[in-house]
Amino acid sequence: MTDVGLHTSELLDTALRVDARARARGPITGREYDVAAYPVHARSAKGSRIRDESGREYLDFLLGYGPIILGHNDDRINNAVIRCLVDGGANCMAPLWPPEQVELCNLLCEVVPNAESAFLLKTGSDATSAAVRLARIHTGREVVLRSGYNGWHDWSAPHPVGIPKSVRSLTQEFSFDDLENLEKLLLDNAGRVAAVMTTPFQESRTTSAHLAAIRDAAHRHGALFILDEMRSGFRLALGGAQEYFGIDADMATFSKAMANGFAISALTGRADVLDGLARTKISSTFFASRPEMAAAITTMRLLRDTSALETIRTRGEQLMDGMRPIFSSRRDVVSVHGYGPMPALVFAPDPAARAAADRFVEACVARGVLVHPNHQWFVSESHTSKDIDHALEVFDAAAAAL
Ligand SMILES: Cc1ncc(COP(=O)(O)O)c(C=O)c1O
Repeated sequence: MTDVGLHTSELLDTALRVDARARARGPITGREYDVAAYPVHARSAKGSRIRDESGREYLDFLLGYGPIILGHNDDRINNAVIRCLVDGGANCMAPLWPPEQVELCNLLCEVVPNAESAFLLKTGSDATSAAVRLARIHTGREVVLRSGYNGWHDWSAPHPVGIPKSVRSLTQEFSFDDLENLEKLLLDNAGRVAAVMTTPFQESRTTSAHLAAIRDAAHRHGALFILDEMRSGFRLALGGAQEYFGIDADMATFSKAMANGFAISALTGRADVLDGLARTKISSTFFASRPEMAAAITTMRLLRDTSALETIRTRGEQLMDGMRPIFSSRRDVVSVHGYGPMPALVFAPDPAARAAADRFVEACVARGVLVHPNHQWFVSESHTSKDIDHALEVFDAAAAAL
């Protein structure tokens, strides 16, 4: 019996009847949901480990798609949230704001380069959409050029279905590695581009010079440069990719690792751009919700004041260094990319390689290591050197499935 009162065997059946997300998403690997091949529901998580609904434990390299930076269910963060709820007296107090809002904005302005002011929201898509609205207000232009996944809202959704053509036509995607393609789009839309938004890197590593070239192209054409730091923020470095690559963005967007799993996001940047908030309405009931702010303040202070980020980088590099020789003989199918705190095992886009990815991932899952066939992986402070050695042994055995 689960905590929600369903027998484990009924959980997936019931989900496939009543949970629109389960009905829409489909399984991570394979053609049909198969909880033995890849678990669907989680029961609990602690540190580097997650337990599925049947009680099986996995060493987790997905970490909620990135938010878990210290480790699952971290007592330091839980206690900050509990203290906030018990001592703080209340959660939602609108139209008044919690003092934590000031404290967190101040902390963001201290640790994020070029953050003259900060705006707190709930999700990553909130933050990227707010950045686009503010860029349009600041420049008086409408077109957005973007690269990477920037969220699900109409202007950025990766799939065009359900989105009016008139809306879609205002956003164009550029190829991250292709500066000529970016320049052409800027010229084709001369005088109309409000912002160039990109994640700081995609699968492969990038350079400061490449990011500077994207920024300079945006500025040359009168557009703002926005870095989407949803995955890199507080992970690649405390100040994100702006600090790591020494690159200045007009605005930067954050969420994920900011609060070790609590739902909060932030937009930081030039005060004159963020002051555009006075001319529009970007507001939501739960933007001022207090426990998530307490979680974010505590997470960011721990990342600032302890060696957590150094531990994460060391463990991640140990993982990547160990993975390279395991996959070196199958470069036609798979290669190791990314940075230690967020490594990527990238499979070739052809159907045979995709099927190999599924087989590899299922072989890892069968051995108790949770990885993903087509998403970046993540490492947390709670992953020990022994965890990494164990994962490498599992990858070595699972590589036979390639
Ligand atoms: C780079 C990037 N930008 C934006 C988003 C959207 O964030 P959210 O899912 O919190 O709306 C994501 C989410 O995965 C992301 O990875």
